Amino acid sequence: MTTDPESLIESFRSAGQGQVFAFYEKLAPDARSRLLAEAAEIDLAEIDRLVRTLVRAGGSPAVDVDGLAPAPYERLPGHGGDASAWSAAKAAGDAALRAGRVAAFTVAGGQGTRLGYDGPKGTFEVTPVRHHSLFRVFTEKILAAGLRYGRPLHWFIMTSHQNHEATEAYFRENLHFGMDPARIHFFRQGRMPAVDFSGKILLETQGSLALSPDGHGGSLRALERSGALDLMASEGIDTLSYFQVDNPLVRCVDPAFLGWHLARRSEMSSKMVPKGYPEEKLGHFCVREGRLVVIEYSDLPMALQRETDPLTGGLRYEAGSIAIHAIDREFVRRMARGDGGLPFHRADKKITTVDSEGREVRPAKANGVKFELFVFDALPSAGNPVVVETARADDFSPVKNAEGVDSPATCRDDQLRQFTRWLRRAGAAVPAGASGLPGFPLEVSPLFGYDEDSFMESWSRMSPKPAIAGGLVLESSK
Ligand code: UD1
Repeated sequence: MTTDPESLIESFRSAGQGQVFAFYEKLAPDARSRLLAEAAEIDLAEIDRLVRTLVRAGGSPAVDVDGLAPAPYERLPGHGGDASAWSAAKAAGDAALRAGRVAAFTVAGGQGTRLGYDGPKGTFEVTPVRHHSLFRVFTEKILAAGLRYGRPLHWFIMTSHQNHEATEAYFRENLHFGMDPARIHFFRQGRMPAVDFSGKILLETQGSLALSPDGHGGSLRALERSGALDLMASEGIDTLSYFQVDNPLVRCVDPAFLGWHLARRSEMSSKMVPKGYPEEKLGHFCVREGRLVVIEYSDLPMALQRETDPLTGGLRYEAGSIAIHAIDREFVRRMARGDGGLPFHRADKKITTVDSEGREVRPAKANGVKFELFVFDALPSAGNPVVVETARADDFSPVKNAEGVDSPATCRDDQLRQFTRWLRRAGAAVPAGASGLPGFPLEVSPLFGYDEDSFMESWSRMSPKPAIAGGLVLESSK
């Protein structure tokens, strides 16, 4: 895209997007430059295509359920899976971690609107006793895993324009929670303009576009653009362990999962949990025309979400996506460079904009469309994708809503249940009711144990064992 102001403005006019510069003449010189810089980010041909296919066509095309079938998955040993295949997978994953082939990758560009929290979501405090933040929990898990495997891990964090500076400042102010800052790599995802229902790009103010993050699927092109893939290659890293910023229970690097991915020579693999109930808001792993796909909870007809399997009595479309993936580095490069790339999805939103006089308008109902990419749309293009079961209690308790399901309260309880389970399996007497919750708050630092194995190792080294009481915090065993 050209940077010459006249031709840039002219290209918008001839694309029918001249309204972007409606107030240009009134702007101060630095505001003009800012608007021009934002406009130069826009791929007008891409917007034109999206307007024709997603906006004028009246919405995202309905999901074609013809020929759709539930995806097969590797079952946990306790759920019919082959225990020896799981041990082999774990050994392969352990070896890859010891060889430094894996990096952690967090998508943290979202806006956390549902939680009603102002600030990067990763700074939200979640742990039951010490109130540590999501980012701190992940940092300590990644740090501890690196120590345990004798190979410090690299960690890639994707931010957005809205939260990039605040995220970096948060880590800086907290001295990166003890992790080597040279191993934490922040990069911004791309952004897309919102359009009104007739396809016109919306202004947020007289001198700025209504831009928003391009969805977590934007991570693939952002990894390439930022140089992260080249850095990985030079460090001998070939696999990304991908997770979302909202889930402190996640095993940031899980050897068994990574081992399944590597042993199958998969380009992209995903974890699943059996859905708890039909309406649970998870994407569904399905197969269509021989390809693995994820169909979002909002797109799969409710009748199919409720359908049961006559043999097992369980849900037919039971495989829920918890947004944890293992992704091959060169697959990311291929997807980022590929002509087709990932498809955009349409989301109708209330978008603050300006009227023809330039006055701010805060609409009461959706007035426009945002475009987003979803990372799981890469699965159909991946070679040998594998879906691997995990126990929800070991991997998934997201903080999405201020109250009710997937809230800070449910997440706190799930952490408490996990700490209690580990302690009890290690032989400690923790009073707990039928709900699995301990009689008092306690906390295990990820530096003591970031998964059951590492917990058991630290516990067995600990002498004398501590009295289990309210407020107990198990800190680093080193
Ligand atoms: C997501 C998945 C859903 C899955 C569920 C599990 C989608 C569309 N759906 O739902 O299939 O079952 O998680 O918890 O993803 N993000 C960015 N940049 C963006 C947008 C989002 O980095 O532009 C990040 C967020 O920071 C967050 C994650 O992506 O870490 C999830 O985003 P969110 O929109 O909250 O997804 P969900 O609707 O919760």
